[in-house]
Amino acid sequence: MTLNRPLIPGRAGALLAELGDRAVCCDLYDEVGAPVYHDLAGQDTHEVRELLTLVRTVPGPVLDLAAGSGRLTMPLLASGRDVTALELSGSMLKLLTARLAEAPEALRNRCTPVQADMSDFALGREFGVIVLGTTSVSLLDAPGRKGLYHSVRAHLAPGGRLLLSTVDLTAGDQAPTETEVEFTADSGRSYRMFEYWTPGAEARTVTVFPAVIGGEQVDVCTTTIRVLSADQLEEELRQSGFAVCSRRLLPDVGARHHSVLIEAEVTA
Ligand SMILES: C[S@@+](CC[C@H](N)C(=O)[O-])C[C@H]1O[C@@H](n2cnc3c(N)ncnc32)[C@H](O)[C@@H]1O
Repeated sequence: MTLNRPLIPGRAGALLAELGDRAVCCDLYDEVGAPVYHDLAGQDTHEVRELLTLVRTVPGPVLDLAAGSGRLTMPLLASGRDVTALELSGSMLKLLTARLAEAPEALRNRCTPVQADMSDFALGREFGVIVLGTTSVSLLDAPGRKGLYHSVRAHLAPGGRLLLSTVDLTAGDQAPTETEVEFTADSGRSYRMFEYWTPGAEARTVTVFPAVIGGEQVDVCTTTIRVLSADQLEEELRQSGFAVCSRRLLPDVGARHHSVLIEAEVTA
């Protein structure tokens, strides 16, 4: 889906302006953006080990919310669990289905991909663990998060756990407003990824360009992500009938990212 020219701040915005009409803006999870996101996620092992460690402590099937192309789904399956992978974007789900088609049959047969909205779903079954990783909770607005907590409650088996990650950005003076990372994915394609956040702002903007600009059309993928602190999420969880069992600081990602993994259970 081509976006109307979005307002992109900082150096990414300047680069977009330089490209003029050659730039075609798209969402990071649509049919153009999904393969780019998949490429970005390919080398990203962030939070996987910590999530698997917690998942192992609770029996039963796993629901992976906002599963994307399976960055967390695949290791969860590899650990021997039955996994339902819920994802809104048909383009992302297609990538996951393609990955599953190449996986061993025994693993593929334990996965159920579902296209649905994590803020309002009804799967008609319960799960031992519900995972919402990669800080994807920040893609939902406040009513969306309320719907998420409600749906999660309805799908957790007795004794089940919700595992939720978020990124606390430091508001320190040293934190740069904009970061830029250039890297080459396993596919061989190279990207320049910009992230813009002003300390205190409610959202950050991530924009991805090809590292080498050539040809007539340049696909520029962008997404805006809310900044939700662990304190805020824990308070929301309590108000929605959850008790927080643990909060773990995860290894840092980049200069100013402090990821936090929250483990919660339904209160009686
Ligand atoms: C940051 S990606 C995470 C994907 C995957 N979990 C990973 O670790 O790579 C966020 C995903 O959430 C999906 N998404 C966004 N809004 C959603 C919603 N309301 N319900 C379900 N999925 C959603 C996007 O399409 C995208 O695939």
